[in-house]
Amino acid sequence: MTTDEIKKKYLDFFTSSPRDHKQIPSASLVLENDPTTLFTSAGMQPLVPYLLGEPHPLGKRLVNSQPSIRTQDIEEIGDSRHTTYFEMLGNWSLGDYFKKEQIPWIWEFLTEVLALPPKKLYVSVFAGNGDVPRDEESYKIWRKLGVASDHIFAYGEDKNWWSRAGTPAQMPAGEIGGPTSEIFYEFTGVAHNKKFGNECHPNCDCGRFMEIGNSVFMVYKKTNRALEELPNKNVDFGGGLERITAAVNDDPDIFHLPVFGEIVKHIEDLSGKKYGKSEKETQAMRIVADHMRAAVAMAQEGLEPSNKLQGYIMRRLIRRSVVKMNTLMGKTTATDFGKITQTKPILNEVDRFSKTLQKGLREFEKLPKVDGEAAFNLYQTYGFPLELTLELAHEKGQKLDPKDFKEAFKKHQEMSRTQSAGKFKGGLADVGGETTKLHTVTHLLHAALRRVLGNHVSQKGSNITASRLRFDFTHHSPLTSEEIQKVENLINDQIKKSLPVSYAMMSLKEAKAAGALAFFTERYGDKVKVYTIGDDDSWFSREVCGGPHVTNLSEIKGRVKITKEKSASAGVRRVYAKIIT
Ligand code: ALA
Repeated sequence: MTTDEIKKKYLDFFTSSPRDHKQIPSASLVLENDPTTLFTSAGMQPLVPYLLGEPHPLGKRLVNSQPSIRTQDIEEIGDSRHTTYFEMLGNWSLGDYFKKEQIPWIWEFLTEVLALPPKKLYVSVFAGNGDVPRDEESYKIWRKLGVASDHIFAYGEDKNWWSRAGTPAQMPAGEIGGPTSEIFYEFTGVAHNKKFGNECHPNCDCGRFMEIGNSVFMVYKKTNRALEELPNKNVDFGGGLERITAAVNDDPDIFHLPVFGEIVKHIEDLSGKKYGKSEKETQAMRIVADHMRAAVAMAQEGLEPSNKLQGYIMRRLIRRSVVKMNTLMGKTTATDFGKITQTKPILNEVDRFSKTLQKGLREFEKLPKVDGEAAFNLYQTYGFPLELTLELAHEKGQKLDPKDFKEAFKKHQEMSRTQSAGKFKGGLADVGGETTKLHTVTHLLHAALRRVLGNHVSQKGSNITASRLRFDFTHHSPLTSEEIQKVENLINDQIKKSLPVSYAMMSLKEAKAAGALAFFTERYGDKVKVYTIGDDDSWFSREVCGGPHVTNLSEIKGRVKITKEKSASAGVRRVYAKIIT
């Protein structure tokens, strides 16, 4: 079966009776108004407000397939099943069904719709910790479905707890999570490798088992003190589409799937090497195949390689691909990569980086001594893999201890972890807090700009972090200081009036008839959510929007200041604003 066939079966299964889920569109890889992570890394990410209790326009049962990117373990790509880019099948109960429906449904999907042999499936449940008890209920449900007790494993919070931040202790205040029940597939003919431990078990990394599905019982929110129960008992299921397909085909190497087929073939043609022949070369091919697939998906969303945020990740993926292609075929050029993708920003980066690499080689020749720091700098600046540096150092008659490189590498890794954890925390702590306030301010700003500058003003984009908002809109000339003052006054007057913020569901046509601005229409089937600031008969702002927002402007508790105004592109201005308390 192909990934597309399986995706269709999954969506059909969950939208059909008695499951009756509504299919939601997949979100983009970079979420607007979500500063918590660089990329959408799970289907639940755009649904956080709804898991926290906000009603979803399409109801309490949702399903979709979500392209996702996870780059935490970028260095681990190269085995048969890890990828940075993947598609996640997801179904959600927003305070509707729970364990006794979710577990049998997902079991039915895997064993009946996809006909996976039940004997080859293993499951896990949460073993409990000091705060949350062992998940006996899930255990009993699995047993009732006929899963043998030696196919059910209990693990602690490092394996059977899910939140975007990790274990309960790692969750920042505001983050949601809960115990999980996972499903694993056992491949035929893969023997345990003792390198990964004496005993094999579903979470063992030897390759015999692969996790194919994760039901998160999302019922907790972390507060400053402890875990607190959410108003709703939610289910958040995620299953890697590529992995489920690998299980259905009983082939442990997901790079054999047609979604990778063409790209692997190009790499083979370019390098003259055969996939699967040598372990090292196969690893390099997997890295290029995965990284290029991810980079192409990023380029399709308009991202470009750069030194910042998403662009930086994209740059790393492309550069690593170039280095790996070099190890496969000697020297690579943008023309070679043109066989893999036609994407301009990617080919430009390949071109630039190949030249940098050549320069790096010349720098290397000049180095008096190749120690750990120097090797790391070559890796960091020119993307030199350790093996390459070792080989060169060897040619120069110098000894480089890989341990020294690893130490320098670890130091750097810890630094970047702390930084991304800082970013993660900064945003998440404010889900439902500062970002929500600024989201409401965005609506006030939009309405105020139209009143001051004219109705040609329309939103072109926005981006909100915990401390400021950025707003792009159509307008032909820089704003004068009087105009800025007028916009600020207008916004702050509304806040002083403590206007209510409410929403109603209606068709897009009704929304437009009611005067709502609808430049960024979230596609929710027939109905859209319309937020109104003010009273129904005398409102200040009315916009189609998914939310969430404050319920009254008094919650903003401060005054809005525009901190910067500049040009964003031809005919588009950009302003930054923040709340001053
Ligand atoms: N959100 C859960 C995961 O990503 C389902 O595994």
